[in-house]
Amino acid sequence: MATYTYEGALATAQRVNWKLDDIIGGDKRLDFRRPFMPEALAGVRKLDFLSEDEQRILNQIRGLGYLVMFGLVEEFILPFVLDHARPRLAGNDYRTRALIQFASEEAKHIQLFKRFREEFDAGFGHHCEVIGPPSVVAAKVLDHSPLAVALLTLHIEWFVQQHYLESIKDDQELDPQFKSLLKHHWLEEAQHTKLDTLMVEEMAAATAPEDIRKAVDEYLELGAFIDRGMQQQTRFDLESFERATGRHLTAEERERFSEIQLKALRWTFIGSGITHPNFLSTVGKLGPGLRQKLEAVAPAFC
Ligand SMILES: [Fe+2]
Ligand SMILES: [Fe+2]
Repeated sequence: MATYTYEGALATAQRVNWKLDDIIGGDKRLDFRRPFMPEALAGVRKLDFLSEDEQRILNQIRGLGYLVMFGLVEEFILPFVLDHARPRLAGNDYRTRALIQFASEEAKHIQLFKRFREEFDAGFGHHCEVIGPPSVVAAKVLDHSPLAVALLTLHIEWFVQQHYLESIKDDQELDPQFKSLLKHHWLEEAQHTKLDTLMVEEMAAATAPEDIRKAVDEYLELGAFIDRGMQQQTRFDLESFERATGRHLTAEERERFSEIQLKALRWTFIGSGITHPNFLSTVGKLGPGLRQKLEAVAPAFC
């Protein structure tokens, strides 16, 4: 894996930086006739008892949940990055500027996803419940050691890369506007993976091996916390689906829906992060046996 620098990350961030009004609003509208999410993440086609229209509606419900989840995690990433930058503002000017740029981008993403949600709600026409509220989730996550939070953040930033490059970029079926939001988010997130890697390395260098092992355990606890969130989100998505389509699934259909959708949500938010080669490479450098610990639990989310 390449060695990252604050200077390099800042230069790229400034080059790819976009304005909110350039990517959402005005004539840039969602097209509800098209799917929003790639099938690799949505997992709706496996629900063969749903019609094509019903699969598309569920796909869009998952699209809402996907972007709202980013808004949710960015609520803890933003204060976390600022707190990491604050004690050493005078040390390295590129570090200070790159981390403030990082925080500023997450604040912008939070606003982007709020605006997306307003447009989604107006166009979709049915209420869709999502887990939260963000302030409670942020408080819960930030109650863990900084290294554990940095690892969870790194996990998230890497799965954003995996999702876009592996399943979104070349999918020509997706609504172009939704895809554009994913692309613009990905463009800025690419620098966050580098900065998060540097943050993890800095923190680990100042942490005793025993406390690093504890932080990895806490990261896994946070994974279990997210997993409980995914179980709740699966129930919300089922309710939203029935509300939006007016269809009442049978007990057997509900069971299949829940099983397949929970698996898809687990892969999206946990499995694709915990198995990312670059994430594992960083964890592997933190101490013996840590990477193997994550690899042992990963199959439950894949
Ligand atoms: Fe973001
Ligand atoms: Fe990010």
